[in-house]
Amino acid sequence: MTEPSFPAMRMRRGRASPWMRDMLAEHRLHPSDLILPMFICEGRGCEEPIDSLRGVSRWSVDRLAERARQAADLGIPCVALFPNTAEALRTDDAREALNPGNLICRAIETIKSAVPQIGVLTDVALDPYTSHGHDGVIDECGCVRNDETVAILAQQALVQAAAGADIIAPSDMMDGRVGAIRQGLETAGYSDVAIMAYAAKYASALYGPFRDAVGSAGRLKGDKRAYQMDPANSAEALREVALDIAEGADMVMVKPGLPYLDVIARVKERFGVPTFAYQVSGEYAMIEAAAAAGAGDRDALLLETLIAFKRAGATGILTYHALDAARLLNNRDV
Ligand code: PBG
Repeated sequence: MTEPSFPAMRMRRGRASPWMRDMLAEHRLHPSDLILPMFICEGRGCEEPIDSLRGVSRWSVDRLAERARQAADLGIPCVALFPNTAEALRTDDAREALNPGNLICRAIETIKSAVPQIGVLTDVALDPYTSHGHDGVIDECGCVRNDETVAILAQQALVQAAAGADIIAPSDMMDGRVGAIRQGLETAGYSDVAIMAYAAKYASALYGPFRDAVGSAGRLKGDKRAYQMDPANSAEALREVALDIAEGADMVMVKPGLPYLDVIARVKERFGVPTFAYQVSGEYAMIEAAAAAGAGDRDALLLETLIAFKRAGATGILTYHALDAARLLNNRDV
């Protein structure tokens, strides 16, 4: 279609007033687009602020429900849980991941009974449980062993499903884990538990504050490039997504967020499946740091990044700013 040219067409007519801009908006943000990640710690009555994630804390299980209720009241449909495992429980074989009484299972049970109207998504990966900080079990050389890890992940998913998790989200990037988890869930009678695969997860420099939050930062030897994706690649992301869908993923995720909008757009266009973006810890820290340095208005920076995900085609966004964003969206006077 050819647009009439100036002066028959004046694009500014569509931008002239708030109501006109609102009426013509191509994409909209809503609290139901957001998933709130929450960090959990041991203890009672605890809130532990995380230095590298100013404004985000770890909460003990007894205080978690309060946060989940706030999220639900603001219209956020789902929370994602990440445990900071006690030092003594981190082992080479990550066996605490399979303990039905572990921190994340207690958190799932608490939220599901106190705030049943909110969805609970749980991370499947071994890094919060390993003494070496890798997402799987390693061999003598420090390489993560794929198939051995997948067998553990499938059990980890069952333990979380038994505790009441609604969505299992494997974030480990092992080959074949979605199929193994799907089959395990099906066999054990959890056919209604959904899988959101971290399908295109990049080996990113933006995960630093998260690793502080779950206590895996100091212990990680080497990096995760032998399993997480190379930031140079996007055709490979499409292959990863195709495999995860074929293995039984209901939804896929691209991670990190903003630097990978091209990947979100390609995935959504090619597959048309629910596609989530994870605005990760380093992105949160960048927004907060920019605002603190006077480089921009925090709320405006936040909403602009979130609408960018929608524009790229994302179904929803995991963001540590979910509560603030939902408050802003609920109070918007339009
Ligand atoms: C662990 C996991 C990571 C994140 C989510 N799950 C870190 C990693 O892969 O090292 C990062 C999230 C964030 O930075 O906010 N498998």
